[in-house]
Amino acid sequence: MATLDSLVCVKDFEERAAGILEKHPLDYYKSGAGHENSLQGARDAYLRVQLKPRVLRDVSKCCLTSTVLGKSTPMPFGVAPAALQRMAHPEGEIANARAAEKLGSIFVLSTLSTTSLEDVAAAAPTARKWFQLYIYKDREVTRQLVKRAANAGFEALVLTVDAPILGIRYADARNKFSLPPQFEVANFKGITRSDMTSSGEGSGVNEYVASLLDSSLSWKDIAWLKSITSLPIILKGILTVEDALLAVEHGAAGIVVSSHGARQIDTVPSPLEVLPAIVENLKGTNCEVYIDGGVSTGTDIFKAIALGAKMVFVKRPAIWGLACGGQEGVERVLHILKRELEVTMVLTGTTSIDAVTREYVRIPPDWISSKL
Ligand code: FNR
Repeated sequence: MATLDSLVCVKDFEERAAGILEKHPLDYYKSGAGHENSLQGARDAYLRVQLKPRVLRDVSKCCLTSTVLGKSTPMPFGVAPAALQRMAHPEGEIANARAAEKLGSIFVLSTLSTTSLEDVAAAAPTARKWFQLYIYKDREVTRQLVKRAANAGFEALVLTVDAPILGIRYADARNKFSLPPQFEVANFKGITRSDMTSSGEGSGVNEYVASLLDSSLSWKDIAWLKSITSLPIILKGILTVEDALLAVEHGAAGIVVSSHGARQIDTVPSPLEVLPAIVENLKGTNCEVYIDGGVSTGTDIFKAIALGAKMVFVKRPAIWGLACGGQEGVERVLHILKRELEVTMVLTGTTSIDAVTREYVRIPPDWISSKL
C-alpha cells in the first residue's frame, strides 16, 4: 500500500479510498438518498458560512479541550456510527475505536456492526464509547443489547430516530447490495436473522432492516427505553426545532442534529443550516446539541461549534481513513482534522472551545429564523 504520508487532507483520503474499495462497498459508503441533493447540500452549507478572523490577539496557546456529558474531552469531535465497517478494512470497527482511543475522542458503535460490541470494548478498553441503538421488533432483543452495551462499558445510548425504515439509495438498489458472506451482523449471532442477502428486488440491507427493526417506534417508547437503562439517551437524527423540543420534554441528555449522512430522505435541509435555530430554542435546558453530516475539514468543525454544537461527529472521513490504512489511516484523518481545527482557531483569534462563538462566523441571512 502506498504511504499515507502523501495524504494531507480528508479529500485526499476520499480519492485514495475510491481507488481501493470495490464498487458495491464504495457505493454503499458514499451514497445518499434519492438524487443526493441533500448529500451535496450538507457539504455546501459549510461553504456558505464564512469565517470572521480577528487579529492581533495573543494566540500563543490554544486548547481544544471541551466537556461532553459532564466529562472532559481533549477534542470537540468524534466518530459517528456506521454499519458494516469490515467491508472497508479487515480491522473494521476496532480500527475506528482504537484510533478514537488514541486521540481521546468519542467513538460511537453501530448496532449493525460487523464486530460485536464486546470485542470492540475489549480492543479499545479506555476509549470513550457510545452505543448507537436501533430498536428491534422483538423488545427482548433490544433489552439484551442495551444490557450488554452497559456491561461492556459504553457510556451512553445513541438512539437513531430517523430510520424507521431505510431510505432509498439508488446505487445500492442497482447493485442489489448485500453484505458479503464472509461478514456478519456480529451483535446478533444466533439471536436474529443475520444475513443481508437481497431477495432480488433491491438492497438486501434495506430488506434486513425492514424485517427486523420496529417502524412503529414513537415518542412513548423513549419512556420505555429510559425504564430499562440508566445510561444517558441521545436522540440522533433530529432536523426540526419541534422535534428538538420534544426530545427535551422526553428527557434526552443530548440530540444529534443529523440527516443520517443524507442517506434517509432527499431535499431535507442541511444539519448546519437548522443548527442555530435548534440551539437557540434549547438554550437553558440540560440537553446537549451535537451535529453530524458533511464535515470534512477542521474549519467545518469550527463553524459547527461557532453555531452552537457541543460536539461534532464525522463518519465518511473515518471510513476513507479506514479503507486507506486501517487504524493508522483513521488516526491520520483524526489528526488532520484536529490540526486543521487548531489552525482555524489560532487564525481566527480564538484559543479555547468556549471562545468559538457566533461572533466568528457570518451566516447566510435566510438561516436566521428561530423556528424552522
Ligand atoms: C451511516 N450512518 C448510520 N447512522 C446510524 O445511526 N446507524 C448506522 O448504522 C449508520 N450506518 C451508516 C453507514 C454508512 C456507510 C454511513 C456513511 C453512515 C449515519 C452516520 O452515523 C452519520 O449520521 C453520517 O454519516 C454523518 O455524515 P458524514 O460524516 O458521513 O458526512
